[in-house]
This record gives sequence, C-alpha cells and structure tokens, in this order.
Amino acid sequence: MTSEQRVAVVTGASSGIGAALAHELSRRGWHCVLLARRADRLKQVAAKTGSEIEICDVSDADAVKETAARVLERHPKIGLLVNNAGIPSHGSFLSASPERIEQVIRTNYLGSVWVLRAFLPGLEKATPSSVVNIVSVAGTTVVPDAGPYSASKHAQLAFSRALRAELKPRGISVLTVNPGPVTTEGFPQTRLINKRSMRWAVLSPERIAAKIVKAIERGKSEIVLPRWMRIAGISTGLFPATVTRVVAKGDPGRDVERPKDAGGE
Ligand SMILES: NC(=O)c1ccc[n+]([C@@H]2O[C@H](COP(=O)([O-])OP(=O)(O)OC[C@H]3O[C@@H](n4cnc5c(N)ncnc54)[C@H](OP(=O)(O)O)[C@@H]3O)[C@@H](O)[C@H]2O)c1
Repeated sequence: MTSEQRVAVVTGASSGIGAALAHELSRRGWHCVLLARRADRLKQVAAKTGSEIEICDVSDADAVKETAARVLERHPKIGLLVNNAGIPSHGSFLSASPERIEQVIRTNYLGSVWVLRAFLPGLEKATPSSVVNIVSVAGTTVVPDAGPYSASKHAQLAFSRALRAELKPRGISVLTVNPGPVTTEGFPQTRLINKRSMRWAVLSPERIAAKIVKAIERGKSEIVLPRWMRIAGISTGLFPATVTRVVAKGDPGRDVERPKDAGGE
C-alpha cells in the first residue's frame, strides 16, 4: 500500500459482484480490505488485487465489531465501505426453512447495519467518504418465489435510503445500488440463462462493478442496473395492487419449492 492510497472495505468479496468490485477498485487505485467467510476464496482474490483479507461473518454483530477494530487499528481512515455480502432465500415464505429465512434477514439486512456501525469511526475520519449498499431490484417489487429474500432487500433498501439522510451532515455519501439479474455463484440465474430469449437480461459481475465504481465517482445516490429495470420499482410504487395481481397470475407455481439455483433473486 502507498501513502496516497485510500482504503476501501468490501464485504462479500470472495466471489461474484464483491470480487469483481475488488478488482475494479484496485485498478482505480484503492487499497482494499476484503471480508467474507471463505478464507481460500478471499486469498485468491487478494493475491490478484494486492488486497488484505479478514474472515468475518457479517450476520454476527460481535464478530463484525472485532473485525472492524482490527482493521481500524491498521487503517484508521476508511474512504469507502461497500455492503455487498448477501445470500438467496432458496425458496418462498412457504417453502424456505425457518432457519434460512432468519439467516437471510441477518445477513442481507442486519449485516449491512452492523458493518456500517462498526466502520463508522473510520468513515468519519476520512471525510468526504462513501458507503455503497448493494441492494436489489427485488427490494423494489413483488417476487413471490423468493419472498424472504425480497423482504430482506426491502429492509436493506429502507436502511440505505434513511442512512443517506443521516450521514450527509457528517460528510459521508451513500449510494444505493439495485441490480437486476447478475450471474454469480449464489445467484446463477439458471432459469433466465437457459431461456435464449431472456439471456440478454443477465449481466456479468464485471459489468456491474464497473458501473458501480463510475456511479461512486459521479456522486450518484441511487442506481438501478440495468436502468430499464427501474420500471419494476416505479410500477410497484404507483400500482402495488395491480402489480401484485399481474405477478400472481403469471406465476401459478409460486408455492411449489424450486430447485436451489432457481432464478428470481
Ligand atoms: N446476482 C444477482 O442476480 C444479484 C441481483 C441483485 C442483488 N444482488 C446482491 O449482490 C450481492 C452480492 O451477491 P452475488 O450475486 O455477487 O453473489 P455471490 O457470488 O454468491 O456472492 C455473495 C458474497 O457474500 C458473501 N457472504 C454471504 N454470506 C455472508 C456472511 N454471512 N458474512 C460474510 N460474507 C457473506 C459470500 O462469501 P462467503 O460465502 O465466503 O462468506 C460471497 O462473497 C448480494 O447482496 C446480493 O443480494 C445480486
């Protein structure tokens, strides 16, 4: 690390969007600290990007506090925090296990809250600094076959928007990112990829990462990737009953358990 480099903390950086962000941010001159649970996979990303790693389960508030204390001792100033760690629900409110429903909320929503609170002293020392929350289009609309995931993302979206107002006076900006389908380990989007007419709608983690870094540099507050998917949130906000009715008609098998890698999350 050089003395001019600013420090970025990225959660969920062992694969998918987080790993792609580690590459993109490192290319743009950031020194990254990468957090996740799988040490072997984090080490692979770190070796290619010159980053540091911390093994941390973001759903465990005490573990997050301990990790942040270690990182802040090495790097008192944190210029950028990316809350990206997340898991799918692998089912609906009826088919997913109670344990999974709890874990989805603890990781996708509460994990973002615990990580933000633990790293806040570092962000405050580095102002103007930034927080990026990777939410989802599923946080803006109706997704019956992945209801627990969608609910966790609705909560994370509310957190991200409220945080923007709360952190602005402290010199910390917040960017909310709502991606549509991206093909990754946790979210392979098999259903869309297997349908030739829908394959175009699935983006790569690298493409998403490049757009996120551009949005940080331009000081954006909220983006949907791809842009046209804003229609999901706009139509649901304006006509929630109609959208719910249309979605229910178009998904007659919503109560049936889907295979583990089914799309829609
Ligand atoms: N792919 C999509 O279609 C899509 C669309 C919209 C939003 N998103 C969001 O994008 C984010 C990244 O997902 P992805 O698509 O890149 O999936 P991914 O490749 O499965 O990556 C998820 C990352 O989160 C980490 N993670 C999961 N649980 C964790 C925990 N308890 N503590 C720490 N790290 C944890 C995983 O690492 P370990 O397993 O090593 O801990 C992994 O690095 C998620 O928040 C997801 O909801 C994805």
